This record gives sequence, structure tokens and C-alpha cells, in this order.
Amino acid sequence: MAFNQESHTLSGEDLRFVSAYVLERSGIVLGESKRYLVESRVSALARALNISSPAALIKRVRAGETALGKQLIDQMTTNETFFFRDVHPFEALREHVLPKVMDARRREKSIRVWSGACSTGQEAYSIALVMLEHFPELADWDVLIEGSDISAKVVAKANNGVYSQLEVERGLPPHMLADYFVEQPPMWRVSGKVRKLVRFETMNLLGQWPLRCKFDIIFLRYVLIYLDDNGKRRVLRQIENLLPPHGYLFLGSSESPMNLTDAFVPVLFGKAVCYQLRSGNTGT
Ligand SMILES: C[S@@+](CC[C@H](N)C(=O)[O-])C[C@H]1O[C@@H](n2cnc3c(N)ncnc32)[C@H](O)[C@@H]1O
Repeated sequence: MAFNQESHTLSGEDLRFVSAYVLERSGIVLGESKRYLVESRVSALARALNISSPAALIKRVRAGETALGKQLIDQMTTNETFFFRDVHPFEALREHVLPKVMDARRREKSIRVWSGACSTGQEAYSIALVMLEHFPELADWDVLIEGSDISAKVVAKANNGVYSQLEVERGLPPHMLADYFVEQPPMWRVSGKVRKLVRFETMNLLGQWPLRCKFDIIFLRYVLIYLDDNGKRRVLRQIENLLPPHGYLFLGSSESPMNLTDAFVPVLFGKAVCYQLRSGNTGT
């Protein structure tokens, strides 16, 4: 089917529909200022699915095609990520957070970490690399890093664990590339010892949370920035119930629970800020 290049722009009504549809189902805010971004992403999806125009795609979502609706939401996500993003949280993880969590969990010898909004997996794999590189004693512990994201596309890539040269050059120290990746020209695959520490699944932070345990460490970075205040509060309320008193929450450097909830207190480790439950708060 020929794609109609001229129908790239969306009517005001279609734009409002997409914004409301995506906000209601994912919490992602797409105001009028994001018009260009919305138009170009809906156009790209229509083209990829061989649908004649963005308007035709939206018409089908309006008519109740929920699978297409999910693809539309997926298309509206911003998946920027890279290995050891921001560096400082991973230094804090190595120097302070993991030693403290290991002290707290020494009897059970079990650690659970969650990378909520994991995108293509680099964050979860970076956590696994810190553990493998600096905590050899964890080899006989029960360790699991769970990664989840609303986008089925990025979760599939995370699951695959295969990255381009450009992707491994973003943040990954060269010796870690040599020690923990297998070259499959022109790509690199995470090796089995890294892969087996990490599990990925699709999960909408504003939907049902199928997570079955508390997490000693939660990375929830660079996702609250995309959500409206209601969505941010809903997510942080649920986090309260997933974090044990000894647990740590990492947010993105531009994100904070301040003005949203007083359930958490900031903890400074070097140049990284993370959060713990305010003392006496044991969730709801
Ligand atoms: C910018 S990436 C952050 C990736 C990683 N945490 C990092 O800091 O490098 C934001 C991710 O949040 C995901 N996301 C957005 N809304 C979400 C929601 N409602 N539920 C789960 N994930 C969501 C997007 O799909 C995207 O992959």
C-alpha cells in the first residue's frame, strides 16, 4: 500500500485522541508541545505496518484494535539508555549499597534487584556486571535482577542481550566488553554468566504489577519524567510496598520524590543520591 506522505500531520482531534489514549494507559504525557514528535512517531508506525496514513492508523485504534493500540503506546516511549548511565549510581552500588544490602541479607544469601523501565537492558546488565566484577562471593548467593518495561519491543531486545558496536562503546569499560561479552560480528552478545543473573518481562508501571517479592535494590530511572503527577504518585506508592527497610531506590538524576510523597528520605553516597523508606514506614 502506498504511504501518503502529505498526510503526515494529524488533525487537532486525532492529536488529542492519541494524547488521551497514551496518558490513560501508560501515564506518558504528550502535550501540544510534543505535536511534532507524536506526528513523526505515528507516521513511522503507520509506514512500518503498511497502513496508508497516520489518520488511518488512529481510526483503527479508535475503532477498538487494542493490539494496534499497544503498538501505538510502545511507539510513544523514549528508550534512551546506555551502560553505566550517569556512573555515580553504579559507584554507590559498588561501594555502599551492595555491601550494606549483603550485610542485611547474609542469612538468606539472597538478593533481588529490579530495573523498572529497563528499556533495552543496559541498566540491568550493568548491575549484573558490578556484581560479577566486584563481589565474587555472590557466586553462591541466590541473585536475581528483574528488568521490566512497558514496551514489548525493548524487552525483546533486552532478552536477546545483543548489542551493536556503538551501543557497547557507550559507557561500557573495554575490559568488561572483553570479559563479559562474546563477539558475533558485527554485534556483541552478553555472555551466559551475565545473562543468567537477569530476567526481563513486559510490565506497565500503571497497570498490574506481577512482581512477587520485595526488592533490596530498585532502579527506577528516567521514567517518572515522562509521567504526569498522578502517575508518578501511583508508581511511588507501589514502590513503598516493594522496598524493605534496608532497601535502596535509585531515581534518575533529574527525578525526585519530593512534592509527590514524604515516604522516602534521600541518602547521599559520594555523588549519588538514592532513597530509603522513611524510618517507621513499612509500606501499606
Ligand atoms: C529513557 S528510558 C530509561 C531506561 C533506563 N532506566 C535508563 O535510565 O537508562 C525510559 C523507559 O521507560 C519506559 N516506560 C515509559 N512509560 C512506562 C510505563 N508506564 N510502564 C513501564 N515502562 C514505561 C519506556 O518504554 C522506556 O524504555
